[in-house]
Amino acid sequence: MTWILPPKKIVLGKDDLHVWRTDLDEPIETVRRLERVLSPDERQRAGRFLCSSDSCRFVVARSFVREVLGTYLNVAAGEVQFAAGPHGKPSLRIKPGMESVEFNLSHSDSIALLAISHQPVGIDVERVRQDPEHDSIAQQFFSPAEVCEYYRYQKADRPRAFTRFWTRKEAYIKATGQGLTIPLRSFTVSSTPQNLSLPLVNRALCSASMWKMCGIDVGPGFEAAIVYQGEIKQFLLLRGRPYAAPVALDKERKSNREKF
Ligand SMILES: CC(C)(COP(=O)(O)OP(=O)(O)OC[C@H]1O[C@@H](n2cnc3c(N)ncnc32)[C@H](O)[C@@H]1OP(=O)(O)O)[C@@H](O)C(=O)NCCC(=O)NCCS
Repeated sequence: MTWILPPKKIVLGKDDLHVWRTDLDEPIETVRRLERVLSPDERQRAGRFLCSSDSCRFVVARSFVREVLGTYLNVAAGEVQFAAGPHGKPSLRIKPGMESVEFNLSHSDSIALLAISHQPVGIDVERVRQDPEHDSIAQQFFSPAEVCEYYRYQKADRPRAFTRFWTRKEAYIKATGQGLTIPLRSFTVSSTPQNLSLPLVNRALCSASMWKMCGIDVGPGFEAAIVYQGEIKQFLLLRGRPYAAPVALDKERKSNREKF
């Protein structure tokens, strides 16, 4: 599967899954302009970051989510309204008669991924880091089967394997919307490198078998995964911002579309 530029017209079929990807590092003038579509709450949150680059990335990510969702809902980015589930999973607040979509966002460094579907979905991206704590975190939070699989990797390969387990587990808890109320050791994901749809194993909750998981290739140094339900007919990987985003394309955003 390869990343493609978004088509002019986006159609999300009943059994389709779209993943959008954008770069969060934009020149400050662009950030200031994108900030205009954020809600007062979002602007306040942007102002609370201690580091200005984190604040800028937050603004770019939020405007990206708004532009993409606005494209599916056929409304302006600034008009998209959000609600939150009991454990904080964001969803859309829509007007009666409007068709909604499910979505989930993840960001790591300058990468943001946004999954869109008609079914619940969870996505996670993480940079692969060397961390002496990996082994102890794995022992604490991975299921016994995952711990066995993790230790089968050569030492040099463990940071990537760890991150692969981590993103897949995180994508699952994000998909369910139940967050960390699901014990992380209670379900098992595979760390196989192939980007195949794989069923999740959960001994405690048989419902986990409804979920499928798939790795997403976002390039060297990162791992990403998506968890979704049902049989997917069309799985699109889209890079950049929507073609006809309510905020007109400018030079910077054009170059962002061409970065990957
Ligand atoms: C917040 C959490 C959902 C993900 O955090 P994260 O990996 O640091 O961040 P990501 O970039 O992947 O996702 C953040 C986005 O997820 C969305 N989100 C927030 N709460 C969510 C929830 N309960 N369910 C699904 N999505 C959620 C938001 O859009 C958020 O974006 P924002 O930060 O701009 O508001 C949560 O799962 C968490 O804190 N997990 C702790 C980490 C952990 O123990 N992981 C276990 C892996 S073994």
